[in-house]
Amino acid sequence: MQSLTVKKSGALKGEIAVPSDKSITHRAMIIGSVANGTSEVKGYLPSEDCLNTLKAMRCMGVDITDKGGLLTIKGGGLYGLKEPGDVIDVGNSGTSIRLLMGLLAPQRFFSVITGDPSIRRRPMMRVVGPLRIMGAQINGRNGGDFAPISISGRRLSRINYAMPVASAQVKSALLLAGLYADGKGQITEPIRSRDHTERMLSFFGAKIDVSGSFVSIEGHGVLSGQKVEVPGDISSAAFFIVAATIIDGSEILIKSVGINPTRNGLLDILREMGADVRLENERLISGEPVSDIYVRSSRLKGIEIKGDIIPRVIDEIPILSVAAAMADGETVIRDAGELRVKETDRISTMVTELRRIGVSLEEMSDGLRIAGGRPMFGATCSSHGDHRVAMSLAIAGLAAGGETTVEDTECINTSFPGFKETLRSLVDTHGLTRGY
Ligand code: S3P
Repeated sequence: MQSLTVKKSGALKGEIAVPSDKSITHRAMIIGSVANGTSEVKGYLPSEDCLNTLKAMRCMGVDITDKGGLLTIKGGGLYGLKEPGDVIDVGNSGTSIRLLMGLLAPQRFFSVITGDPSIRRRPMMRVVGPLRIMGAQINGRNGGDFAPISISGRRLSRINYAMPVASAQVKSALLLAGLYADGKGQITEPIRSRDHTERMLSFFGAKIDVSGSFVSIEGHGVLSGQKVEVPGDISSAAFFIVAATIIDGSEILIKSVGINPTRNGLLDILREMGADVRLENERLISGEPVSDIYVRSSRLKGIEIKGDIIPRVIDEIPILSVAAAMADGETVIRDAGELRVKETDRISTMVTELRRIGVSLEEMSDGLRIAGGRPMFGATCSSHGDHRVAMSLAIAGLAAGGETTVEDTECINTSFPGFKETLRSLVDTHGLTRGY
């Protein structure tokens, strides 16, 4: 098992780039595969999760080549996919399995999709239920809630659906299925989740309308191949934004990060806590807002985080809880029960692991209460196989006294290949003692 050992660090200084956006990469691979003609994806993310989506599209006959980070996808149109000859295995990737279920349900073939033990524990009924309402024939363990999932492709009818939870994966699966359905589908979310699928479908020519948390899509759409450039992932930048904020004397610049308003809740929250985070060189790339992010260390204060902002920061709550541990006063995070069905139960894993390094925090059914400002001390802790937990603990280790070892760090490659090297480029040489 790999591990990463970090020591208390001096100031972080320098300019970095973070890996490309995971959510956008998945969507470019999937949408490009069912568009008519060739698409190019510049700077895609070659992490394990995204490579699993790539493998899935290839095993359905799509011709995809990579030349120096430029992906060329020869899309065969909505019905250009071929029946996969084997089970599709998405590994650890929730985005792959849920989006692909929406794509596979209306195909004219049979498929089976599964993933690693974490994926096989995560709820799929949130996608299977509404797809069944559209006429899909889908089965799986526990009545269809758990993978492996089998799908006998069917003609689908349009959906008019109010989603019970804000989930971009569910919404995206329904939009992809809606592309093939008869009529105009309508989906409403309780709170708006990330909108990369809406933006990309529109960029590829689908007839899609968005108004607040309401989205409609015209069935039997035609997509045309496009050139997509993928910005840096704000969820990966988050680890360094927090690191530079909590480590005294730090000053860093992170180049070309996606700042989509449905994803940038961390920036608003950190600013409210007192952080010095500034956007420079804001621009639009392939329909997505992008910026350089400048961060200088600052003293933080605890705040209450709840309600509509939660979907905009959902993947950053593990690293936000590290920021809260370093803040003066108490931070309370509520309405975040979705954390319990991520790669791990992130409420319980963060509580268990941050306690090992001396953080005082309380677990609540839908969030965390963190008493900030107490000294953290080095310890051995575990990622539980969750990439975001692993990286959050490594950053906590930079601020804790002594030496911190994070065990089980192979999972970092699911979203952030090169994390250790990026960290090493910013910390002084005492910061990182042993690699994973
Ligand atoms: C994602 C959506 C979110 C997020 C996940 C990526 C996506 O999941 O947590 O890491 O790319 O659509 P939910 O849709 O379950 O909220």
